[in-house]
Amino acid sequence: MAACGGSTGADSDALVVPATAPDWLIERAGDATTTFEVSERSYNLSARNVGLPARIRFADGDEVFEAFFDTEMGLGPDFNANSCTSCHVNNGRQQFPVETGSVGIGPVVHVSTPGAAVDEAPFDLPGFGTRLQTATVDGSQPEARVEVTWETIEGIYPDGTSYELRRPVVSAVGLDGDLPVDAQLSLRIPQQVAGPGLLEYVPAEDIVAAADPDDADGDGISGTVNYVGDGRIGRHGWKADTPDLVHQSANALAEDIGVGTSLIPVNGAIELSDEELADLAFYVEALAIPAGRDVDNPDVVRGANLFTAIGCADCHTPTQRTGTTQYAELDNLLLIPFTDLLLHDMGPGLDDGRSVFGASGSEWRTAPLWGIGLLDTVNGHVSLLHDGRAQSIEEAILWHGGEAQHVTDAFMALSAEDRAALLRFVASR
Ligand code: HEC
Ligand code: HEC
Repeated sequence: MAACGGSTGADSDALVVPATAPDWLIERAGDATTTFEVSERSYNLSARNVGLPARIRFADGDEVFEAFFDTEMGLGPDFNANSCTSCHVNNGRQQFPVETGSVGIGPVVHVSTPGAAVDEAPFDLPGFGTRLQTATVDGSQPEARVEVTWETIEGIYPDGTSYELRRPVVSAVGLDGDLPVDAQLSLRIPQQVAGPGLLEYVPAEDIVAAADPDDADGDGISGTVNYVGDGRIGRHGWKADTPDLVHQSANALAEDIGVGTSLIPVNGAIELSDEELADLAFYVEALAIPAGRDVDNPDVVRGANLFTAIGCADCHTPTQRTGTTQYAELDNLLLIPFTDLLLHDMGPGLDDGRSVFGASGSEWRTAPLWGIGLLDTVNGHVSLLHDGRAQSIEEAILWHGGEAQHVTDAFMALSAEDRAALLRFVASR
């Protein structure tokens, strides 16, 4: 990571933490788009500063996002859910945490050919596509049934406090065709959809400039761009494998709902027009960003400084800026998303064994942290990391290995009070 100067996650005795708040500790996480709504609608509002033409288009896109597709509108033949909102409930994550047993609506299982290596396209399993579908419109056998069980892992902080983590064990049985026993399966939960829109407008040069694939600055953190073909930069999804929201939406329509677009027809059919697809993408682009809270609280200020001091900010880059967009209101905004949009090797604990474009099994995009403290308010549960294994911010941190191992070690070495301040800060975003 090159852009913001090198903390090395030094041990906590040596930590010097300023008493004053960092510049970026402000409420307006999405600049003038920011909403101060704290309710289950926190991820649902249009950018607060956009004018009438954009609001009309936003409403048109919202209609597609909220639509429940039926067979006449193109649902199926295979699908996982019949609308965007079934999985992104209240524009958030899924309705329930992933439980033991058959996977319900929301989580998705990505699949590819056994043994496929990084950059070895296509990233699918012939006959099954890139995601397993668990429902059909005509009542015939779906592609697969997916089961999850949980393995418990216990650990202990240097100060003697104990903790418990859980890891999913995913298995799938092919119902409509044989699923190879060694197919690469990756359980994914939906991300909230307020946020990726403005990240689409962070100029590609800025993302590339922050990459440090060979760790030239020697801070133990590299950070690589996931190029997804034709020199395009991947931004969206847990592995930054999708370049823009039109593609993200077309993928979801085809692979999750079974609705064809001109980008990705389903069995040759185009069932949603280019205009509707563009409006849908615009809807996601123009969602308001929820404000950070409690920026004057002394624990939040200390937590924010610790966030930088122990190295969280080396990947979770506090600030980004939008470039030029479709609407002047979204141009040149100061964003506080806490991501570099780069891939990092997170170690064996988070390795899903499934690569896509330049991302290996253990590489994931730095997850943005804006809006994270409102997940519980919006969805009634906290499910973090790509497969929802972490049920709190603390658990999410404890899973960070690989390039982040030294930062996790520094977190664990903090006093209980400082750990609480750091968690309090993250929860205030
Ligand atoms: C069956 C559940 C499901 C449905 C239906 C679904 N999504 Fe998703 N969505 C997901 C999952 C899972 C991810 C994470 C994908 C990944 O990277 O693994 C995701 C990711 C996204 C992202 C990227 C968020 C980010 O931070 O990068 C956007 C945007 C999105 N979905 C929009 C949509 C839209 C628009 C629709 C409707 C056309 C839709 N989704 C339908 C499950 C779903
Ligand atoms: C080396 C880069 C790196 C460092 C350092 C790092 N993170 Fe992360 N963080 C990531 C990546 C990548 C993910 C997504 C991993 C996944 O989904 O499996 C992530 C995910 C998270 C999540 C879950 C977000 C979600 O949407 O589910 C939280 C919370 C988080 N990090 C907080 C922190 C905190 C706090 C620190 C410092 C103690 C930290 N991270 C240090 C890269 C990093």
